[in-house]
Amino acid sequence: MSVGVRRRFVVLISGQGTNMQAIVNHCCSESLCADVVAVVSSRMNAPGIDWAVSQGIPTEIVVSADYSSRESFDEALAASIDKFAPDYVLLAGFMRVLTPGFVKHYQGRLINIHPSLLPAFPGLHTHQQALVRGVRVHGCTVHFVTALLDHGPIIAQGVVAVADSDTPQSLAAKVLAVEHYVYGQVAEWLSKGLVSLTEDQRVNVSGVAQRIFFGGHHE
Ligand code: GAR
Repeated sequence: MSVGVRRRFVVLISGQGTNMQAIVNHCCSESLCADVVAVVSSRMNAPGIDWAVSQGIPTEIVVSADYSSRESFDEALAASIDKFAPDYVLLAGFMRVLTPGFVKHYQGRLINIHPSLLPAFPGLHTHQQALVRGVRVHGCTVHFVTALLDHGPIIAQGVVAVADSDTPQSLAAKVLAVEHYVYGQVAEWLSKGLVSLTEDQRVNVSGVAQRIFFGGHHE
């Protein structure tokens, strides 16, 4: 990727797509050198798809029930994505576990947001897990995707305080608000070509020392 070229993002969703909307809006409002060139959904009726259509963004739907194996689904998914020649593929609430072959195909270009401070609470029901364990801080992580679920080099994290009165729903809302900010920032860094991986598989963001964001200050 050379300097001055507009970066192409394909965003993968399965539901509301509010993170996708935050990325699209950030790309527009900050006049970033990047475009969301397509939104791909793993669910037929994902509300995020309607929003993308309303913005004039090309959309694709790839549903697992139409495929006999995870491999064939991932091949079809990759074919849909690659039509748009993305520089980066951003998973934004994409609720499918991807095969190692898919992850390898997009090595260094595949990014995910997870609703916890990894490595704590991989998998599902992260807000419930956080409340059960009584942690006082919770949040989200944007990371490169590796074959191991919810692992991979950490690009940025967003942090929220946990209150005694929090429920999984209230905590999810707090975390989602900071997610939108963090993913927008990461999209900006990617668009400027600032993000790289070191030999020991850690992230470097050129010129950016602080890659933690605190919820409550950005909404
Ligand atoms: C977000 O909280 C995201 O972190 C989470 O799903 C939600 C999607 O919201 N992702 C995962 O749990 C991935 N394992 P959105 O569709 O409104 O962006």
